[in-house]
Order: sequence, then C-alpha cells, then structure tokens
Amino acid sequence: MAICGIGSDIVEVSRIKRLRETYGDRFLRRVFTKGERAYCESKEHPETHLAGRFAAKEAIAKAVYQSGYDKVILFSDIEILNDAEGRPQVSLLTHIRGNCLVTISHEQSMAIAFAVLES
Ligand SMILES: CC(C)(COP(=O)(O)OP(=O)(O)OC[C@H]1O[C@@H](n2cnc3c(N)ncnc32)[C@H](O)[C@@H]1OP(=O)(O)O)[C@@H](O)C(=O)NCCC(=O)NCCS
Repeated sequence: MAICGIGSDIVEVSRIKRLRETYGDRFLRRVFTKGERAYCESKEHPETHLAGRFAAKEAIAKAVYQSGYDKVILFSDIEILNDAEGRPQVSLLTHIRGNCLVTISHEQSMAIAFAVLES
C-alpha cells in the first residue's frame, strides 16, 4: 500500500451546534449517515462527536482530492463508525478507491482530525 493523499481539519464545536439548531435534521441528514447520527446522539454531548466527524470528513475529502480525484464528494458518502475499542473506521460509500485511515480528537470547544488515503 502507498500513501496517495493526506488531509487535516479543525472544527469549532459551537459552529456545529449552531448549524444543528438552525437547520436541525436537514443539516444532520445531509452530512451524517444514520449510523453516525445514532452514535453521536447516544453521547452526552452529541455536538462534540458530530464536530469530530465533520472535521474527519473534511480531512478525508482533502486526502481524496490530493490523490487526484476530481469529482464532487458528498459528506454523506463518507461514513465513520467506531469499532469495539472506539477506533474510528472509515467506509467510502462511493466509487472512490483506496483505504482511508482517520484519527479524531476533541476538547470542549474544538475538534480535529487527520486522514491518510492509501491506494
Ligand atoms: C483512546 C484514547 C487515547 C482516547 O483519548 P481521549 O483523550 O479520551 O479522546 P480524544 O478526545 O482525544 O478523541 C476522541 C476520539 O478518539 C477516537 N478513539 C476512541 N477510542 C480510540 C482508540 N482505542 N483508538 C484510536 N482512536 C480512538 C474516537 O474517534 C473518539 O471520538 P468519537 O468518539 O467522536 O469517534 C483513550 O480513551 C484511552 O487511552 N483509552 C484506553 C485505551 C482503550 O480504551 N483501549 C481499548 C481497549 S484495549
């Protein structure tokens, strides 16, 4: 496997909170899959986990574009779920080829993510 793209992103949790309050389900469904919404909503502070996923999706999009991909990427086509140990696992639901690794971290006000795309 060779690394063909990397990406990072940082998101303010308050921005996600505002989007959620303003657009509600419309925003959530456009950006997050059903499984991601269920995971985040099960947490005490859903916005923190939504912000982490939002940052992860932007980081993954950067990695994919860096690899030379030139089509539109919908955030709902990227799914990040956690394995039994809590590690985020990426599924690319489109025809983007490659294996994507991501790491997410969050504090009260900010969330960051880094992604690597392997081909
Ligand atoms: C994994 C660990 C380092 C996370 O540190 P933290 O400071 O609490 O978490 P951060 O705020 O930086 O990041 C949280 C994100 O880390 C990721 N994460 C959680 N567990 C993880 C793990 N085991 N490995 C890698 N990433 C992990 C998740 O994406 C999580 O965000 P999400 O729940 O919204 O998806 C910490 O929980 C830990 O040391 N746990 C003990 C090890 C463990 O649980 N091992 C599994 C059983 S052997």
